[in-house]
Amino acid sequence: MLLDQQAEQESAAKAEGHTDLFAKCHTDGGYFGKMRVIGDDEYTRPVLPPNPSRHMEFKGKEHIMWSINNYLGLANHPDVLEVAHKTIDEFGVSSPMGSRMMSGNTEYHLAFERELAAHAEKEASFLFNYGYMGVQGTIQSLVGKDDIIVMDKLDHACIVDGAFLGQSMNGAQLRVFKHNNMDNLEQVLKRVNRDRKGGVLVLTEGVYGMTGDLAPLKEITALKDKYDARLYIDDAHGWGTMGPQGKGTAAHFGVQDKVDIYFGTFAKSFASIGGFSASTKEVVDWIAYNARTQVFAKSLPMLYVQTLRKTFDLVKSGEDRRQKMWKRSNELKAGLRELGFYVGPGESPICSVFIPTGEEALETIGAATSGFLRKNGVFVTAITYPVIPLGLLMFRMIPTAMHEEEDVANTLAVFKHMRDNLGLRLTMNEDEDKKIRKVYGI
Ligand SMILES: Cc1ncc(COP(=O)(O)O)c(C=O)c1O
Repeated sequence: MLLDQQAEQESAAKAEGHTDLFAKCHTDGGYFGKMRVIGDDEYTRPVLPPNPSRHMEFKGKEHIMWSINNYLGLANHPDVLEVAHKTIDEFGVSSPMGSRMMSGNTEYHLAFERELAAHAEKEASFLFNYGYMGVQGTIQSLVGKDDIIVMDKLDHACIVDGAFLGQSMNGAQLRVFKHNNMDNLEQVLKRVNRDRKGGVLVLTEGVYGMTGDLAPLKEITALKDKYDARLYIDDAHGWGTMGPQGKGTAAHFGVQDKVDIYFGTFAKSFASIGGFSASTKEVVDWIAYNARTQVFAKSLPMLYVQTLRKTFDLVKSGEDRRQKMWKRSNELKAGLRELGFYVGPGESPICSVFIPTGEEALETIGAATSGFLRKNGVFVTAITYPVIPLGLLMFRMIPTAMHEEEDVANTLAVFKHMRDNLGLRLTMNEDEDKKIRKVYGI
């Protein structure tokens, strides 16, 4: 809309005694509002070249990239590209058209779902176009009036949105337990069972993608059995990276058979797009007929189905890649700890580095450290309040099979330089240590 038209509409709204819908867009409110109003393109919405790689150009300078979930380095693998070309030759770029329910179902989709189910050790699976919509749709499809959702406080936004949808649309009730706190989960389940009329759905992640810690799935599955609940885990970061053959976090703990519905995305270790939920045939059929985010959406295009199947072969047989990813992760974590940095205790490949901000404004330390890393060619994502408590800054780093030993060495050299140059305090005081332990539920 033209600016003067917008201003006209806003003053008309004011004259009527109400606010215009767009008035908020002038303010620094909303997500990362302060960054938005200054037109930041450094830390929010940085413009990067499309091809994911270990080294990427940003603002005319090469950076070692630690912010991309290409865990196994499979993005643009030549075998996958070959299948992509063949698929385009055979099926073009439009097929299939329509939703799975109407005209978008093919033998290829069904075969891929069978392959996914077999690997996830479930009877059946159902594909979604996006992981986000897969989780949302699965939760919404399963909960109704009288049912109760029990979710971890740090669950991903798509789980939260799915739960809200289940609550607002279907009338399910919502309960939250403290992150990874099994005593609290047991308390909640006990309370819920006192006057329970319907079913209970426990929602957790496998690997918590921000902090890199794992859900204690042995304990969670034991509790959900004890209190007669069902468990859905969103294993976006664990699928492909954790457990034997990348079967995920529950397989890592040896409790995949206890997970009632398992979810994996293709946007991380598969370096593509889409996701799936896997369970018994009956439950998957229910999801396929009732998950609004897919029932009313076009089917996953053939280009993705066929390239994902090829990627799947590489993920299953990719032990070397997984080992390389773990090696880089262990080197990075150990090196940073040796330099005195506080690296979170998460047991996934994700490396979370905490820096206390103390009395200084978070913005000051955040800008100084992030700026230093960028200036020295290290690209990491800075995480701040409200994702983590005030008084702390966290750099989330994602080691992958793309990275070489020299990337770790060069990154450690920059962190050392940053520590000395900025005179950073690295040791946590008691209060800060407590805050971090709270983040990890330990
Ligand atoms: C835990 C978790 N679940 C779901 C998603 C959404 O997946 P997708 O990017 O495939 O939509 C993400 C992505 O960040 C995630 O981290």
